[in-house]
Amino acid sequence: MTSGTPDYRDAGLAFGDDFLFGSATAAYQIEGAVDEDGRGPSIWDTFSHTPGKVWNGDTGDIADDHYHRLDADLDLMRELGLEAYRFSIAWPRIQPTGRGEVNEPGLAFYERLVDGLIARGIRPIATLYHWDLPQALEDEGGWTSRATAEAFADYARIVAERLGDRVTVWTTLNEPWCSAYLGYGSGAHAPGLMDGAKALAAVHHLNLAHGLAVRAIREVLPAAECSITLNLHVIRPSGATGEEAARRIDGLANRLFLGPLLDGEYPADVIEDTKAITDWAFVRPGDTELIRQPLDLLGVNYYSTVTVRMWDGHSPRVNADGHKDMGGSPWPGSEEVEFLEQPGPYTAMGWNIDPSGLEDLLVALHESYPELPLMVTENGAAFDDVVTEEADGPAVHDTDRIDYLRRHFTAAHRALARGVDLRGYQVWSLLDNFEWGFGYSKRFGIVRVDYDTLERLPKDSARWYAELIRTRRIPA
Ligand code: FCB
Repeated sequence: MTSGTPDYRDAGLAFGDDFLFGSATAAYQIEGAVDEDGRGPSIWDTFSHTPGKVWNGDTGDIADDHYHRLDADLDLMRELGLEAYRFSIAWPRIQPTGRGEVNEPGLAFYERLVDGLIARGIRPIATLYHWDLPQALEDEGGWTSRATAEAFADYARIVAERLGDRVTVWTTLNEPWCSAYLGYGSGAHAPGLMDGAKALAAVHHLNLAHGLAVRAIREVLPAAECSITLNLHVIRPSGATGEEAARRIDGLANRLFLGPLLDGEYPADVIEDTKAITDWAFVRPGDTELIRQPLDLLGVNYYSTVTVRMWDGHSPRVNADGHKDMGGSPWPGSEEVEFLEQPGPYTAMGWNIDPSGLEDLLVALHESYPELPLMVTENGAAFDDVVTEEADGPAVHDTDRIDYLRRHFTAAHRALARGVDLRGYQVWSLLDNFEWGFGYSKRFGIVRVDYDTLERLPKDSARWYAELIRTRRIPA
């Protein structure tokens, strides 16, 4: 077991020189400029422009206007001392309809970004897919179709050919769990479908897309560092039926990805649990070998935990899984699992704050896959920030966010001390941004964005983080 304070506020913990401190964003959440320089529409353009899908009717049309403010944002990253920046590339900027001809201005934008990072001594961590599927591909079935996985590999090859020599880490997909289950099952994310069979087909085609893309990247760049980022669920069972509920959620949320990606097979119990929904015929012979490509790194996104048990069929059903309820289920075949209210404290998302979940997750992954280096590719918190006027100008004293980060960096440090090969930590997020179904109502940034003027204002948490990076110690 670990030593240290039970509340994860240990003092003075130091990180090694190789540990990569950075921050993360995603294209649709910050870029804006959705119809400039040849960009095609993505499923998030369609979804956000559909009434009732996103809070307040918010869209990513302007977002943080990062597309036009690239240089200033890069300078800001340097001022904070970031050592890495995790960003995503918008597929519809590179191929406006998802296949065929390459849109040169789109590639040129990301080349400017990558070169600008390198010029400032910041390592680029590029994600190829953070949810903005070209709408034209969705019109042909999106992730329910095998052809999308094949198109993704072509896109990956195009980007790798252009930027490959300068990108430190390639991440194929961000959180395929969300793309599949929220996109095609619960309806909370684009494209907003509510169909369990489609969600499971999407899981497989996303896994396949990853495998095909890694293969394509390595054909161009044999030494490329390849990874995928997952939002693995940390599941706490409750009561007599807790173990069964945990097995089911672990199966759908974690093992349907880790199984094919790292062990080369789909978990038999999940195939069985879902057999009334799909026959899994979309998995063709040879697919699992294609999916299991050697990985250089696994990206871990962590925010909170879930507590589960089987619903008794009588009492009012609880569903506190932390996602927006649009009517569909993100748990095909396991709809009778109940997600119980977590003990607090909570962030503005209503997500419980539990740094022990991060430590547990990192240690469990390391125990299962000791050879696989890990990186926290997202961790952070939304709070209802307040701007105060100080003598030297406006400020955001976001002590809650600092406390959240302090405790999660402590958790990461404890995992390191227990032997986990953890290579770095990317705070979500550099900037306040378009938080998907919640629009601009949730602020995750360590830098505030004023959505009227688009001005950036580093919050106290940004200063705190800059100090951590500079000293390599968690500030007191
Ligand atoms: C993750 C997403 C990221 C952001 C955070 C809060 O699921 O990858 O884009 O929305 O949650």
